[in-house]
Amino acid sequence: MPDESVAINRREFLNLAWLASLGFIFVDVAGMTVLFAMPRFKEGEFGGVFVVGSKDSLPDVDAPPANYPKVKFWLSHTEEGVQALYKVCTHLGCLYNWNNQEGKFICPCHGSQFQKNGTYIQGPAPRSLDQFVIQILDAETGEVLAETPPEGGPVPLPEDREVVIKVNTGARIIGQRHN
Ligand code: FES
Repeated sequence: MPDESVAINRREFLNLAWLASLGFIFVDVAGMTVLFAMPRFKEGEFGGVFVVGSKDSLPDVDAPPANYPKVKFWLSHTEEGVQALYKVCTHLGCLYNWNNQEGKFICPCHGSQFQKNGTYIQGPAPRSLDQFVIQILDAETGEVLAETPPEGGPVPLPEDREVVIKVNTGARIIGQRHN
């Protein structure tokens, strides 16, 4: 006569093993989903959104661009507005610098030059400087008043309101090619 209690135990064991496998798969998928849903960069770090502050935090229109080394951009303020220029040269990736005497950016590696607004002047760089998306928000309501256009360029500052300026270092706009 077959031992029925052993047969039932074996079936139960197989059921439990199957359920356990399903449980592992579920936990695995849930864990991956949570990881993908979480933001990869924290606010204020390179790759995330950096809050520059109010208009008072900006360099004057006539002043040199402000250097933000930790978040890898130069903040440039001209008559047309503000721009956050990615610090990496569009030629072979060196870090270019602002030359105060010449009033332009010059790359130390092969001499590419760029205007204060990131536009290519001369040298082996194939395009103007890349830039990050800037948002100008109403300081009271948080409403977005202006944003860098998809093709890049300066963002004008509203004169009649207090604003907060934010730079999204995760949203890079590739500079215009010049040839
Ligand atoms: S890396 Fe800047 S000019 Fe070559």
